[in-house]
Amino acid sequence: MNPATLQQLIDFSYIAAVAGFILALKWLNSPASAMRGVVIAEIASAVAVVATLFDPQVVQYKWILIVLIIGAGVGIPLGLVKMTAVPQRTALSHAFGALSAALIGIAEYYVGTPNLSKFEMAEIGLEVVIGSLTFTGSIIAAGKLQEILRQRPIVYKGQNIVSLSTLAAAVTMIIVLMFHPGYTHLFGAMVGVALLFGVLLVMPIGGADMPTVISLLNSYAGFSAALLGFVLNSKVLVVAGALDGASGFILSVIMCKAMNRSFTNVLFGAFGQMQVATAKGTEERTVRSASAEDAAGILGSANKVIIAPGYGMAVAQAQHKVRELYDALTKRGVDVKFAIHPVAGRMPGHMNVLLAEADIPYDKLVEMDDVNGDFPQTDVALIIGANDVTNPAAREDQSSPIYGMPILDVDKARTVMVIKRSMGAGFAGIDNPLYYMDKTLMLFGDAKNFVGAIVKELAGEH
Ligand code: TAP
Repeated sequence: MNPATLQQLIDFSYIAAVAGFILALKWLNSPASAMRGVVIAEIASAVAVVATLFDPQVVQYKWILIVLIIGAGVGIPLGLVKMTAVPQRTALSHAFGALSAALIGIAEYYVGTPNLSKFEMAEIGLEVVIGSLTFTGSIIAAGKLQEILRQRPIVYKGQNIVSLSTLAAAVTMIIVLMFHPGYTHLFGAMVGVALLFGVLLVMPIGGADMPTVISLLNSYAGFSAALLGFVLNSKVLVVAGALDGASGFILSVIMCKAMNRSFTNVLFGAFGQMQVATAKGTEERTVRSASAEDAAGILGSANKVIIAPGYGMAVAQAQHKVRELYDALTKRGVDVKFAIHPVAGRMPGHMNVLLAEADIPYDKLVEMDDVNGDFPQTDVALIIGANDVTNPAAREDQSSPIYGMPILDVDKARTVMVIKRSMGAGFAGIDNPLYYMDKTLMLFGDAKNFVGAIVKELAGEH
């Protein structure tokens, strides 16, 4: 094929890939179209990769094939981890993406130096610094989530000064390199300082805030890829990186709002004290517990039920039993909806994914802001393995560590039933006054077993 036609075909493929990425983001916005979004993103990525392989600048395939095999060898097992390990898996993916961006930037530096223009050096410097800090930051985040590293924030005196000085040193080195691109030792030092800054950035952040940080690191990895696009003069990389960077950034802002965290603090890494359990006074208070039979009786005679799922449903993998409960109740004419809190579980969209896996109709999944007005007219709020996202202290108790976090107003329903194994705390490590209310019934047990037992009772089997 003549080179001009080949180039046109490659460019056309890139435009198609970019259109695919934009559509993917649009479709990923709703559970109903999310699967389509994933498929189009995969196709678009494949199109971009294949088109790049036909680029005349690719002179041999041997090394590409070798790294493809290594990459697949690492990627396939990573893709098969348990649902509960997805946050740390995502952190590792960002680490690898950022590392490859940083390494390509480093290679471009050594190929181009000492003849790099100021602008080229600034691009490469920024890209390598962001890629390197994202690499080490993501590794630390994955380590904390996997509990290989201490989850608690590691805080010391003068931390902000040390972190900011490290960042300032990296930026200064970029500026010096712009005027003296041949200072290869300085370039090496800049990479080292950026790697160190990634560690310093994430170390002070507690496990509770890690998913927000991962989303932010995702955004950094995207921006680093976009900068790499400028370095390599690759428009598709500029656009894909910018989309990744911007969407990760928006998601971080949404998560911060839902968890009532200051975005500025997340951005600068100096936040995230682990909450300390505040169990004071709980020992005198009593709770009312009930059996599956009692729960089935109350649910079966209700008109309107809202189910609020949380992390415990994910741990117990109870979503299929929840689907059976939904079927049994709707068959009896009960109006059943699901209340979805934006940070229920441990990752964005966690509940949507699980309930979609169990084929619960999407229109029954109602977001927090839309469902909260319905609780006062609801007979039963059934909470399945959720805790913090239903804690009224967030609304009422100014001394609570989660004060200000928006919650599901389950306590406004006529009866509240809570399935969990014990009086144990949730992620924030704090007591939940909801459990001591007169209208609340505690259904102690594993979510999957307990929901299964309710379903059996509803079916009349004992
Ligand atoms: P949590 O507050 O963590 O509460 C989950 C509850 O599930 C626990 O109290 C636990 O009580 C119960 N549980 C655990 N295993 C269970 C099982 N097998 N069967 C039944 N219950 C079980 O969860 P949530 O309400 O979903 O709130 C999420 C929390 O995570 C929030 O604090 C949020 O800020 C934080 N967070 C969320 C995200 C995202 S993006 N979703 C990211 C980071 C942090 P028992 O031990 O008594 O059973």
